[in-house]
Amino acid sequence: MAKAFAVFIFVVATLVSQSIGAVVKLQGCGGRVFVDESVVIDAPLRENCAWEFETQEDRILVVTLVNGNLNEAEEYFSIHDGIDSDSPILLVENQKIHEVSRKDLPQAVYTTLHEASIRFKKTPVSNLQLKIQKAVPCPFNLGLDSQCGRIVDSSSCYCATFTNRVQVDQTMYCVDNNMKLISFENSTEEQLIQSTWGTQVEYWTSLTDTRREGAWIWESLMTIAEYTNWYPGKPNTAAGNSDDCVVYGGTRFLTFWGDTSCGTMAHAICEAQP
Ligand SMILES: *[C@@H]1O[C@H](CO)[C@@H](O)[C@H](O)[C@H]1NC(C)=O
Repeated sequence: MAKAFAVFIFVVATLVSQSIGAVVKLQGCGGRVFVDESVVIDAPLRENCAWEFETQEDRILVVTLVNGNLNEAEEYFSIHDGIDSDSPILLVENQKIHEVSRKDLPQAVYTTLHEASIRFKKTPVSNLQLKIQKAVPCPFNLGLDSQCGRIVDSSSCYCATFTNRVQVDQTMYCVDNNMKLISFENSTEEQLIQSTWGTQVEYWTSLTDTRREGAWIWESLMTIAEYTNWYPGKPNTAAGNSDDCVVYGGTRFLTFWGDTSCGTMAHAICEAQP
């Protein structure tokens, strides 16, 4: 009986320290952690605990507070850009807030490197949980006639290009900037993008049936479109038609999607996900 109880305690303790949903919970005082899924530092937090975080080399890290105000909480710890002892301290106020980034996203600190450290200088008075996630860098723009921002969540980045190009050229414009032509995975994502950059003109998406007539694939993801938002009467189902690429916006399709020739000129949205 005692043995069974000990095994039970071990299993519960292991589950608690390892993962809750997609979140890995860290306990104890300090250590080095590779960040892929979300990581949350949970109590006990006390002075002289130092955590080191690392993610893939072409990504950065973003730190948010699960509850509360990050500015106020910074009295208890410092967030460093890198893991060396002299790595610069990052502050909430130093973060560039892009004009088009969503204002209701949680306060966040972004590193410029793929490594960061968090050092506690004081024991927090109340339960304080810090969340560390992998993020993509988000430039202010991609050059002339473009605009970027953290539109959907604090870890991904979206950029609009207000230059008209054919679908394949917009695909390559995104790829040349380490991004992908947009795929709408759900209506939340689509509505956030449409409310940010509007639907006054047509924008390309990565949806196409060039590979097989009637099989609509997000080319950027190579997945079948599950969520769809077709304009009434669309898509064109006539055999052998050449409406193989998909735009939204403009006077033809408004907030909906319409299939059209891939040689049509339109603006585009690129996205980068962590
Ligand atoms: C919608 O898509 C976005 C972007 O891919 C994702 O972050 C979000 O979790 C999705 N939301 C739902 C409700 O599936």
